[in-house]
Amino acid sequence: ADPRLARISSSIRAIPDFPKKGIMFRDVTTLLLDHQAFKDSIDIFVERYQGWKIDVVAGIEARGFIFGPPIALGIGAKFVPMRKPKKLPGPVISQEYTLEYGTDRIEMHVGAVEKGERVLIIDDLIATGGTLGAAIKLVEQVGGEIVECACVIELSDLKGRDKLGDKPLYALVDYE
Ligand code: PRP
Ligand code: HPA
Repeated sequence: ADPRLARISSSIRAIPDFPKKGIMFRDVTTLLLDHQAFKDSIDIFVERYQGWKIDVVAGIEARGFIFGPPIALGIGAKFVPMRKPKKLPGPVISQEYTLEYGTDRIEMHVGAVEKGERVLIIDDLIATGGTLGAAIKLVEQVGGEIVECACVIELSDLKGRDKLGDKPLYALVDYE
C-alpha cells in the first residue's frame, strides 16, 4: 500500500452523532489543515490519472470543488462544476437522485462536457452512491465517456459502489 495513505486516513476527523444520532461523520476539513496530507491526496490522484487522456474533471458541489480543481490543473484537464439546483446561471441539464427522505438534484451547464470527451468525476466521499450515480447520468446525458469516479473516502458498508453500474470507483481510504 502507498505509505502516504496512513497519514491521509488519520488526518480525517470522525464526529459521532452528526448530523443525527447514530451517524459517524467523516470530516474531510481536517485533512485540509494538514498540508502534507492534503498535498499527498492530490498527488496520488494526479499520479494515477496522468496519461489517461482525461479531457474533463467534473467535481460535485460542495466538497468535490476542493479536490477537483487541483487535480484538473495537475493533469491538464478542464474543470466542470456539478451544482445543487438553481445555482448555475446558464442553460443546464439536470439529474434527480434519491436521498434517505425525498430527492435532490444536481445540474451542469449545457456545453461544459461535449460528446466523446473523457471525464473523471470527483467528490470527497461516497456513502450510498446516490450523488455519484446522478453525476454519472448527467455526463452520460451529453455523451461524455466516464473513465472513472474518484473520492477521498469510501464508506464501504453502505455499498455505494453498487449504484455506479459498470463505472469504476477509486477511493483513497475506506471507513466501515
Ligand atoms: C455529501 C458528500 C457527497 C454525498 C455522498 O454531500 O460530500 O457529495 O454526500 O452521499 P451519497 O453517496 O449517499 O450520495 P452533501 O449531500 O452532504 O452535500 P454538501 O457537500 O453540499 O454538504
Ligand atoms: N461525511 C461526510 N459526508 C457524508 C458522510 C460523512 O460521514 N456521510 C454522508 N455524507
